Amino acid sequence: MGEVQTLTSLTDAMAEAAAEVELLLNQILAGPKSGQESLFKAMRYASLNGGKRLRPFLTLESARLFGAPDKYSLRAGAAVELIHCYSLIHDDLPAMDDDDLRRGRPSCHIEFDEATAILAGDALQAAAFETLADPKTHPDAEVRTALIKALSIASGGKGMVGGQMIDLAAEHSNADMKMITRIQRLKTGALITFSCEAGAIIGGASKEERQALLDYAHDLGLAFQIADDLLDVLGTLEDTGKATQKDEAAGKATFVSLLGVSKAQQRAELLIENAIERLDIFGDKAAHLRSIANFVVKRRA
Ligand code: IPE
Ligand code: IPE
Ligand code: MG
Ligand code: MG
Ligand code: MG
Repeated sequence: MGEVQTLTSLTDAMAEAAAEVELLLNQILAGPKSGQESLFKAMRYASLNGGKRLRPFLTLESARLFGAPDKYSLRAGAAVELIHCYSLIHDDLPAMDDDDLRRGRPSCHIEFDEATAILAGDALQAAAFETLADPKTHPDAEVRTALIKALSIASGGKGMVGGQMIDLAAEHSNADMKMITRIQRLKTGALITFSCEAGAIIGGASKEERQALLDYAHDLGLAFQIADDLLDVLGTLEDTGKATQKDEAAGKATFVSLLGVSKAQQRAELLIENAIERLDIFGDKAAHLRSIANFVVKRRA
């Protein structure tokens, strides 16, 4: 298959998955009839109508490697997307990156207020675990517990939140390669790794298959954040839906700040080559996961 055709089919598959995720999130975030309307409005505002939905797509495609039903992996994918959306709300707060735009619209704390945004993030996090704990996510309680445990680790102090803490602490510092790699692996890599791991858990992967997926996700996650950092320098507000050219002034420690644009690009491409090699054991079934890897470094949003 030529590159254009591969990309078209990836775009279609991603759009189809995104629509399914949107439907599920819409159900999960149905608010109570009275009482906390503004909270649910803010949760829905930050989670619906936007985003590439890359993480749920990874869960879906990873589970498909093992022939697991989409109805399970879509729910696990929705759970990781809920965590991701909460992380974006908090990431944009004045106390963190202080960003007024997200997914082409005012950030949650601008559209509502800071207190509502903080609480909406908190409640989205709880909704993620409620989703995983529901028997609709998997009939086997052991599988559900494994998903909950893996997402707790990926999103907590030793995962995404830990990475966000070091990201802030490292602003205007002389962070070296080792430190920057650690920040990126935690703040972004951990949830991307969970997204693939969830597919392995749901699909009952063998130890070898699970490790191959984890190795793929490890390199993909790092490349994804390098691409995000490159978009901050090279991208536009129109394409990304968020303010660009902000990281340098904020003193963010990134591969781009350390290596410059072209070396960071080379590094992302190398990581993607490695990630793709990890998928060899899955043969043709991993075609979409290979295409996603290429998409991650070529994307403009
Ligand atoms: C943005 O993630 C934040 C990072 C972890 C780099 P995405 O680029 O996946 O954002 P959406 O979900 O598509 O808006
Ligand atoms: C965010 O990284 C990682 C998160 C856990 C949200 P960035 O701060 O670079 O993400 P953007 O550029 O605001 O989307
Ligand atoms: Mg940030
Ligand atoms: Mg940010
Ligand atoms: Mg960024």
